[in-house]
Amino acid sequence: KVLMVFTQRFKVVEDSVPQINCDVKAGKIINPEFVVKCPAGCQDPKYHVYGTDVYASYSSVCGAAIHSGVLDNSGGKILVRKVAGQSGYKGSYANGVQSLSLPRWRESFVVSEGKPQKGVTYPSALTYSSTKSPAAKAGEPTKAYQKPPVPGTTAQPVTPLQLTGATATEVTLTSLPKPSPSTGSTTSSLRPQPVGHRSWELGEMDLWQPGSVLLDAGFVPKEELSTQSLEPVSQGDPNCKVDLSFLIDGSSSIGKRRFRIQKQFLADVAQTLDIGPGGPLMGVVQYGDNPAAQFSLRTHMNSRDLKTAIDKITQRGGLSNAGRAISYVTKNFFSKANGNRGSAPNVAVVIVDGWPTDKVEEASRLARESGINIFFITVEGATENEKQYVTEPNFSNKAVCRTNGFYSLNVQSWFSLRKTVQPLLKRVCDTDRLACSKTCWNSADIGFVIDGSSSVGTGNFRTVLQFVANISKEFEISETDTRVGAVQYTYEQRLEFGFDDYHTKSDILNAIKRVGYWSGGTSTGAAINYALEQLFKKSKPNKRKLMILITDGRSYDDVRIPAMVAHHKGVTTYAIGVAWAAQDELEVIATHPASDHSFFVDEFDNLYKFVPKVIQNICTEFNSQPRN
Ligand SMILES: *[C@@H]1O[C@H](CO)[C@@H](O)[C@H](O)[C@H]1NC(C)=O
Ligand SMILES: *[C@@H]1O[C@H](CO)[C@@H](O)[C@H](O)[C@H]1NC(C)=O
Repeated sequence: KVLMVFTQRFKVVEDSVPQINCDVKAGKIINPEFVVKCPAGCQDPKYHVYGTDVYASYSSVCGAAIHSGVLDNSGGKILVRKVAGQSGYKGSYANGVQSLSLPRWRESFVVSEGKPQKGVTYPSALTYSSTKSPAAKAGEPTKAYQKPPVPGTTAQPVTPLQLTGATATEVTLTSLPKPSPSTGSTTSSLRPQPVGHRSWELGEMDLWQPGSVLLDAGFVPKEELSTQSLEPVSQGDPNCKVDLSFLIDGSSSIGKRRFRIQKQFLADVAQTLDIGPGGPLMGVVQYGDNPAAQFSLRTHMNSRDLKTAIDKITQRGGLSNAGRAISYVTKNFFSKANGNRGSAPNVAVVIVDGWPTDKVEEASRLARESGINIFFITVEGATENEKQYVTEPNFSNKAVCRTNGFYSLNVQSWFSLRKTVQPLLKRVCDTDRLACSKTCWNSADIGFVIDGSSSVGTGNFRTVLQFVANISKEFEISETDTRVGAVQYTYEQRLEFGFDDYHTKSDILNAIKRVGYWSGGTSTGAAINYALEQLFKKSKPNKRKLMILITDGRSYDDVRIPAMVAHHKGVTTYAIGVAWAAQDELEVIATHPASDHSFFVDEFDNLYKFVPKVIQNICTEFNSQPRN
C-alpha cells in the first residue's frame, strides 16, 4: 500500500514536467528557465549541439544535456537556463556527443541536473515560439509535444500540456516585440544565420533553408535586431582554413548524368564547408583536353554563392587530361592574384572518372614541391579488362601528396560519391596532417653559428652578416613557417637572437644587421654545443633543423663530438669555411655526405657566390626526402 502511494506521488511529479523530443532546440522554447524531460536516445549526431558548457540556443536541448554530462542516453529530467548570446562557441567531444563550433549566436543556455531549486516554480507547460504561417514548419514544436507517450509509461496524460502549450504560444507571440510573424518573408530576411557553423552532417543543410529557421527567427528581441546586420555574412569556419581547388572531370566519356552527380558533389562540399574569408575558400577547375578555371578562390567567398555558381557549370567535353590540369593549378590557380592567401594550406582535389588520359606523375611532383596537397578521388576505376588502356599504371599513387591512403579515395560508383563528402572534408580540414603544405621555404628552423674571431676583421664580419641575411631572405619567415636564430662565437658564445625572437622577415634582417662584431678566439666545438642548447633545443618537432656554421679558421677545441651530437639530434649541419678554414674540419662538422654540406671559399669577397648553392642544396635535400 505504501508503495502504491509513493508511485502515485511520483507520477504526479512526473506529469508536471513537460517533455520534449530530442530535436527540440532551446531557441524554440521561450521560457527563460525550465525543467524538462528528455526521452531516451538523444545521443545521436543528428541532434546538433553547438558549444561546450554554454550552448547556442540553436542546439538540441537534450543533446546539449548529454554533451555536458548532465544526462545519459537513457533520458531524464534536466534544468535549462537561458543566458546571453556569445560571440563564439567552441565545439568539443564529450560524453559521446560531438558538439560544433559557432562564432556568434544571439542566445545561449546552460544545462544542469533536473533538481528544482527551492522556492522556484517551473512552468508545467512550455511556451514555444512559433509563426502563424501554416506553410512554415510550425509543426515542429507541435511534434515535440504530440509525440505518443514513451512505451512503458503508458497512460501518461500529455493533453493538458498540449493545450497549455498551444494557447501560451498564441498569447506570447502577440506580446513579443518583433515584426509580424505572419509574413514569412519578413521574418526570414531577419533571421540571424548561424555564422561559421561547421558540420559534417549533410542533414545540417536545412540550416540554410528559410523554412526551417523561421521558428528561431520568431522571437529575435528588438534590441538585437538593431545591432545585427540584416544579412550577416559568414567569415567562414576558422577550423578549416584551407585554399581549396577542385579539379573536375569534364571529359566527354563521363556523360551528362555522371557530370551532374559530380556537380552535386561539389555543391554538397560547398554546403558542408562554411566558406568565407576567415575559413575555407574554394575554386573549381574543369578539365577536358585542356583545363579551365570555372572560378578562382576569390570569386565566391561564401557557401551560398558558390553553390549557385556550381550549378551553372557546363560540361566541356574532350579527354581527361588531369596531368595538364594539375600543372595549370600549380602555375596559375594558386597564384596570389587568384586569391591564394599564403597563410592557408593549398589543397587540390582531383576527381577522375576511370583514369586520366595523360600522365600525372611529373606535374604532381612539381605541385607537391610547391606545397600543394594533392588528393585523388577515383570514381569507377579501371576493371581488370580495362587496365591495359590505362596510360600510367598506379597514377593515383604517383600523384597524391603521400601514398599512405590519407590522400586517395576510391569510389566504386558515381552513385556513392556523395558518401565521400564527409570523409574527404575531414581530411582536407585536418590542416596539421597536410604534409605537402611544407615546402623547402616554410618548414625549417635555421640556426646560424657565426665565427666572430679576431682574424675575421670588421669589414669581413659585415660580409658574413650579409651572407646570413641573403640566405634568410629566401625563406618564408613567420612564427609558423621558417624561423631564424643566430649565435656568435669566439672562445665564448652568445645568443644574438633565438627562434622565438623575431617573426617577420624584416625583423630578422634588422636583427642580423645589428649583430656586433665580437673579436676573440675560435672555439667552434663549444659553439656547436651552445647552439644545440640555446637554439635547437627550442626547435619545434615538425621543423627541419638546419645549422649553418661560418668560420674562417681552425678551431681551438675539438669539433668531432659536438658535430656528432648535432647529427645525432637530427640537426642538418652546413659548414662554410672561408680563407684559413680547415677543409677536414669542415667535413667533420658537415652532415653526411660532406660534399653536399660543406663549402670552402678562398676569400670573404667570394662568399656571395655560395648563397644560391647553399639554398639549392637545402632544397634538393628537402625534396629528395621520401614521400611516405
Ligand atoms: C603503386 O605505388 C605504390 C607507392 O608508390 C607502391 O607501393 C605500389 O606497389 C604500386 N603498385 C603497383 C601495382 O605498381
Ligand atoms: C647579398 O645580396 C646583395 C644583394 O643581392 C649583394 O649585393 C651582396 O653581394 C650579397 N652578399 C653576400 C655576402 O651574399
